Amino acid sequence: MIKVIGLFAALLMLVMGSSNQVRAQETKVRWFGHAAFSVTTPKGKVLLIDPWLRNPSNPEAKDGKDPLASLTRVDYILLTHGHRDHVGDAVEIAKKTGAVLVCNPELAGNLVKLADFPSKQAETEAIMGIGGEITIADGEVIVAMTPAVHSSSVFNPKAGPSEPERAYGGNPAGFVVMVKDGPTIYHSGDTAYFKDMETIGEEYKVDLALLNIGGHFGMEPRMAARAAKSVGARLAVPQHYATFPGIAADAGEFAAELKKLGVPFYEMKPGETVTFRGREMKRK
Ligand code: NI
Ligand code: MN
Repeated sequence: MIKVIGLFAALLMLVMGSSNQVRAQETKVRWFGHAAFSVTTPKGKVLLIDPWLRNPSNPEAKDGKDPLASLTRVDYILLTHGHRDHVGDAVEIAKKTGAVLVCNPELAGNLVKLADFPSKQAETEAIMGIGGEITIADGEVIVAMTPAVHSSSVFNPKAGPSEPERAYGGNPAGFVVMVKDGPTIYHSGDTAYFKDMETIGEEYKVDLALLNIGGHFGMEPRMAARAAKSVGARLAVPQHYATFPGIAADAGEFAAELKKLGVPFYEMKPGETVTFRGREMKRK
């Protein structure tokens, strides 16, 4: 009998202990400016999306500072497409951290061939296509690759008379990143609005939508707000703007349009980190 009570006590402590852990579980989302974000899971895995860390908006890249210097751990690099403002510093980061590449096979192949991306990190089961879902980070994260209406090519540093300046980058994409005990995050990449964003919203319960609002090359702020509504975002955050000439300078119009549509808005500052407890963002 004493043994049974002891067992119950042990079980009770185990259950209480784990629920305390659940309460303490936090996911961190950081914006480096432009389309570059990191997601740090409750268990400490680090995903980088479109890691152009040396973009001019990143405070860590100012005054001669190198944002890659402080980068210690990266487990996965997710690339929406091959354009330079999205591939960014992926090759250098991969070499420095051993991070595994998550993108389409054509982009991966050409990054290895033309940009010296470490092949072992680019030739794994994390190479995927639109419509697919993969489980990574020891089961803690599911990544779905979603469509984007855009173009995709890889800048070829070895371009010359016989080699074109741009190589094929496969289809451009977006990502839905589902963190266990954390938020579901939609990163639109660089895209036009498309009505099937509604399907993304129906299929995935999007807690946080990171939407390109800069216009010119992709969604104008008005259509980005419509995208937020279509994916059913519980919170919309703008990205891909004010980094270089030609893309919208501020998020005001996006915020105003979101207000009309009843979608909550949050403006991150480059360099800012927000914290999620479970699926909820902690407000300061
Ligand atoms: Ni692009
Ligand atoms: Mn872009």
